Amino acid sequence: MSALKGRALLTGAGGGVGRELQRALAPRYDVLALGREQLDISRVDLLRETIRRVRPAVIVNAAAYTAVDRAEREPALAYAVNAVAPRIMAEEAAALGSVLIHYSTDYVFDGLKKGAYLEIDATSPLGVYGRSKCEGEQGVQSAGCTYLLLRTSWVYGCSGKSFLHTMLRRAHRDAAVRVVADQHGAPTWSRLVADVTAMMLAVVGERAASYSGIYHLANAGETTWHAFAERIIMRGAVLGLCPRVPVLAIRTEDYEGIAPRPANSVLEQEKLARAFGIRLPPWDTALEWCLHEMATAHDISPTQARGHRIAGC
Ligand SMILES: NC(=O)c1ccc[n+]([C@@H]2O[C@H](COP(=O)([O-])OP(=O)(O)OC[C@H]3O[C@@H](n4cnc5c(N)ncnc54)[C@H](OP(=O)(O)O)[C@@H]3O)[C@@H](O)[C@H]2O)c1
Repeated sequence: MSALKGRALLTGAGGGVGRELQRALAPRYDVLALGREQLDISRVDLLRETIRRVRPAVIVNAAAYTAVDRAEREPALAYAVNAVAPRIMAEEAAALGSVLIHYSTDYVFDGLKKGAYLEIDATSPLGVYGRSKCEGEQGVQSAGCTYLLLRTSWVYGCSGKSFLHTMLRRAHRDAAVRVVADQHGAPTWSRLVADVTAMMLAVVGERAASYSGIYHLANAGETTWHAFAERIIMRGAVLGLCPRVPVLAIRTEDYEGIAPRPANSVLEQEKLARAFGIRLPPWDTALEWCLHEMATAHDISPTQARGHRIAGC
């Protein structure tokens, strides 16, 4: 292990943000990247023991129970992962003098505010997922460690499970896609969440305690799930990732989801800009970059690309 690099313990390394973090953190840290199979963070004793053994300079918690609807039926597991485990990490970080990076969600808000949510706005989650993440935030904030608590929104990536892949899959499968048009937020590329995290760690350096706090980290601008889906399918069709199918606008009450979701969960970005000089690009620019990367990956593998188009068109 290089003496020049600090050690970072990354949990949830197999998730959308976790995979990107493995790459983004590598230049600065010796990263011990653990997926759920290596470290189940709901196992409290194992979690404490791992942190004490590794003694990381930075703990980056990208693990989370993110199935918003399933959480309504599995609240105990959602709370174990999203509420209890982050508090344990924060307690261990406080004892070691480590920095904790923890991610949270726009779903800690109830969506009733007109305009974008500030970091200081009162939380009032609507469902189990949001409540469990909210309790995780409180555990991190009260343990006495130095932390960067990064709330993000509507995360997608080039691979893995996300709304982006669901839309591409549905465009292949269905004659038309129905998507909710009355919930507002900002789609955010997991790549940028990871890159900005690494940039923030570089900025704070040895003075992390003076930066400790909550920051909103999402792509700029806002849209609806429906307009996001339309953009995915329109640009995806041009780039050969899916066929072009109509995207029909529906209302929240017509969606078959179980968990209630906020009508507005746009996150104000000024604090990140002021403290770190970081501004993320608009959501549609980031989406374009991600789709281009996916299309290029298809180009690299002609068999796969051809198969994809034949299957879809
Ligand atoms: N995805 C979004 O739209 C979104 C929006 C706002 C905020 N966030 C937040 O952003 C952060 C990163 O989420 P993401 O988008 O990367 O979600 P993700 O793709 O679902 O990744 C979460 C990872 O955590 C793992 N995990 C679940 N339970 C675990 C456990 N008990 N022990 C260890 N690992 C466990 C999952 O493994 P399995 O795949 O095996 O379950 C998965 O690899 C989370 O804090 C999330 O709340 C996400």
